[in-house]
Amino acid sequence: MKLPNYYEDPNTLHVGTCENRSYYIPYGQDLNSHATLLSGDWRFGYYPYPEAVPADFINPDFDDSSMDTIPVPSCWQCHGYDYHQYTNVNYPIPFDPPYVPKENASGAYRTTFTLSAEAAKQRNFLYFEGVDSCFYVWVNGKFVGYSQVSHSSSEFEISSFVNEGTNTLAVLVLKWCDGTYLEDQDKLRMSGIFRDVLLLTRPKSFVRDYTVRTFLKDGGAGVVRVSVEADGEISPVLTLCDADKNPVGEAVLTDGVYEFTVSNAKLWTAETPYLYTLTISTADEVITQAVGIREVYIKDGVVYVNGQNLKFRGTNRHDSDPVTGYTISKEQAIRDLTLMKQFNFNAIRTSHYPNAPWFTELCDRYGFYVIAESDIEMHGYLSTYHSDRENTLGLLDEGGVFTEAVLDRVQRNVIRDKNHPSVLIWSLGNEAGFGYAYQNAGRWTKEYDPTRLTHYESSTWDHSNRFDKSMLDLYSRMYATTEEVDSYFAEEGPKKPFIQCEFVHAMGNGPGDIEDYYQQIMKYDGFCGGFVWEWCDHAVNQGVAENGKTMYGYGGDFGEYPHDGNFCMDGLVYPDRTPHTGVYEWKNVVRPVRARLVDAHKVTLALKNMLDFTDMADAITLSYECKADGELLCSGEIAVPSTAPHTESEVTIPVTLPKTAADCYLKLTYLTKTAHELVPAGHEVGFDQFLLSGSAVRRLNSVTDEATAPTVTEGDRFLTVSGEGFTYQYDTFTGIFSSLERGGETISMDYSIFRAPTDNDRNIREEWERANYHHSQTRTYTTEYAVDGQTVQITSTVNLCAVTVQSIMKFTVIWTIDGAGTITCKIDAKRNTDMPYLPRFGVELTLPKSWQQVSYLGYGPQECYIDKHHLAWFDAFESTVEDMHEDYIKPQENGNHYHCRKASVGNGTNGVTAYAATSFDFSVSNYSDYELAVKKHNYELEESDFVTMHLDYKNSGVGSNSCGPQLLPQYQMNDKEFEWEYQLKF
Ligand code: GAL
Ligand code: MG
Repeated sequence: MKLPNYYEDPNTLHVGTCENRSYYIPYGQDLNSHATLLSGDWRFGYYPYPEAVPADFINPDFDDSSMDTIPVPSCWQCHGYDYHQYTNVNYPIPFDPPYVPKENASGAYRTTFTLSAEAAKQRNFLYFEGVDSCFYVWVNGKFVGYSQVSHSSSEFEISSFVNEGTNTLAVLVLKWCDGTYLEDQDKLRMSGIFRDVLLLTRPKSFVRDYTVRTFLKDGGAGVVRVSVEADGEISPVLTLCDADKNPVGEAVLTDGVYEFTVSNAKLWTAETPYLYTLTISTADEVITQAVGIREVYIKDGVVYVNGQNLKFRGTNRHDSDPVTGYTISKEQAIRDLTLMKQFNFNAIRTSHYPNAPWFTELCDRYGFYVIAESDIEMHGYLSTYHSDRENTLGLLDEGGVFTEAVLDRVQRNVIRDKNHPSVLIWSLGNEAGFGYAYQNAGRWTKEYDPTRLTHYESSTWDHSNRFDKSMLDLYSRMYATTEEVDSYFAEEGPKKPFIQCEFVHAMGNGPGDIEDYYQQIMKYDGFCGGFVWEWCDHAVNQGVAENGKTMYGYGGDFGEYPHDGNFCMDGLVYPDRTPHTGVYEWKNVVRPVRARLVDAHKVTLALKNMLDFTDMADAITLSYECKADGELLCSGEIAVPSTAPHTESEVTIPVTLPKTAADCYLKLTYLTKTAHELVPAGHEVGFDQFLLSGSAVRRLNSVTDEATAPTVTEGDRFLTVSGEGFTYQYDTFTGIFSSLERGGETISMDYSIFRAPTDNDRNIREEWERANYHHSQTRTYTTEYAVDGQTVQITSTVNLCAVTVQSIMKFTVIWTIDGAGTITCKIDAKRNTDMPYLPRFGVELTLPKSWQQVSYLGYGPQECYIDKHHLAWFDAFESTVEDMHEDYIKPQENGNHYHCRKASVGNGTNGVTAYAATSFDFSVSNYSDYELAVKKHNYELEESDFVTMHLDYKNSGVGSNSCGPQLLPQYQMNDKEFEWEYQLKF
């Protein structure tokens, strides 16, 4: 069909749409809804371009019986049409704004609705909550209008198009339009009517829009101001009730503004989401609006909510699901919010577009602070030939092509969500540069709503300060390093509050830098917090593999070009919302109580209340447990003293420590005292653990007196060391045992510096590969052995090296083998500091496949690393090799246990146990490192016919360098010189 070409015209953004308004559902005085949900199965025709769509599909008499059906709302890619595509920065279409490809996939939708004679005489509206990317609307064959801005609402008045009885609604959706240039968000790209469509039947005169604002007065009173905008003549009556439905105060009308004064107002915060209900009543309609009384402002560079300097412990959230795509039900959203609450989040950024219109309502109710973001991202400008940040993105809208579109998108976001207490910050968008359009849209926002804060990260790319940014309240960054944060606060002079709108990039195994950032957030009053990138992994559920695993597809799995691989899988939860280990790390770092050991002897601790508005005693119960090397010494509960937010109080735990060389740890566990709608009472919100006594270096078991030394036989290459029941082959070329044999079971050993790269290793991986770390080997310069009364001692000097490149590390290793076959290994090493830091340094043991039982004394039970161990605690744990595997969808290094003193792997009869003089990192897996490194999906993993065990002097941290900063030096295996001692019993 032939269409007016609005979709390539940035000066025609909407045709026939109503003015923007806040989102609400009107009811009749009889409390029947004035909205009818039109969602359901609609007729659907998919065409390769609009010209191919039959022109008469819009007509009521069109025979649609041969058309397909598709559910509305949904994304057509999730129903077998078109194809999935994942791209991050790159535009999926040629860069030629405002033009889009001629082959522009088109979805023709048809449905009918019925109106009674009564309803047909009233005013009728169609309300679309979200359509990607643009759409034309016809009712009964007549053109009603056109709209775009995928994640914003569009409303059309259809009163003059409808009649009594059956009415035909036809909608044509195009995959791309000029708006596509403004919707280059990092996500799977989908199309269709993906949110609900409502039919509103309203009286002749009605409340068109209203604006609620709240203020606090000295003395605890809250002020609620409401302005009402009418369509036609109305005399609205406003009432405000508390949560028990009791009216509070009378509305006083001054200059067209209704004002309620609520004495002793109960304030809204994320911790105490107290809501009043505002009712706006006209002769024929009732609108209710939840009202949270609260105030947000900045003083001396610090963000305050209701007078308290609080921190945003936030996450970025997309509407995303592996089955339903962009279409998210309330149940799905509540599932996210439930997990967020349970994992100690208090804030959400709706990246990078307005979420479903009822989403902020849920945030009001359950208690989350929201950064509400406009539907704008133009990152693809950066991928054009010859582009760079400052000159391309920094100035991109200078030409003015999209000036109107930017303002339109910002207004649609602000006006739709303006009545929600949860929204504290307006975001102008994401990664779209800063120029006239933004200056303009920013000024509009601040003027329209001076009661909230404004934020826009891309403004910081205008380094030469060509544009006014005074309307932006926050200094917003993403992935700033801890050093950058320090230097921001080190600078003299007044400054805006600092916010990380994205940080701790949660891709794959990680993030490992949460605690470091959190220390800074706690240190600087002006650092108002951060938002983890991002909440969930984005993927497409492609069915079930033969081995029973779900096949999650990511970029490249759909044959598309271009794509960005698995970069869409960077969430804190798997696509099905199973938590990643990283979200446990987050949870415990931002725990609501932080304990400090004041006196290890008396076991006195200071408990700091990290909550912002709640007395610790009202929110938390505390239990403790003291263990010596994992053996329970005592446990109990301690009354939590009344402690105001952000202050400390002391408790003493009744522990008497035994005289022992064992590690005695005290663990405090914090539980919720009362139930919240999304969090039960007794839910664990975090813990602290302290070492009360122990010895840093342990003496490894020495040989028994009666033991006699094993015998040694010298071959041309191997030394054979044998004793009662065992035979060990020592390779004098490589400086390690090539085989350890006992009772028919054999282990082999090798030095190990490589690991299956994590997503966060994606940059350093290139250095590692250039240094040929994945082809490392050892050779000895010398090997000597000696036998004394009880032991054999083998000493080798070793070069750890790789083809093509210089030496990586040199060390002396001393092996002591006693009559029982126990091996003690002492290494004294010097690393070549010209080479990059190592993934790890340690030994890899290849064990019989039947050895599937694991026990260890160290940090667990979840995988943990030197920079990601706040989710874990020191204890004695038992597990299986299978359970120790963390099944990342894109396989990678996983399952490490930090700071272990002891680890055993076996089958109940035979096995190996390792002991550390200080500690080691330890992992065990049914998959080889090679398998984990090369396979693209977890469902492709094949088990090896042996078990791989790693004992490491140090396994490097995981960090968040997939997008965040480089791994901090203190977490790298970068030691210049070190000693390491461990023992193996077999
Ligand atoms: C940011 C961007 C996000 C996401 C992230 C990487 O630059 O704002 O949308 O792409 O990087 O995962
Ligand atoms: Mg981007």
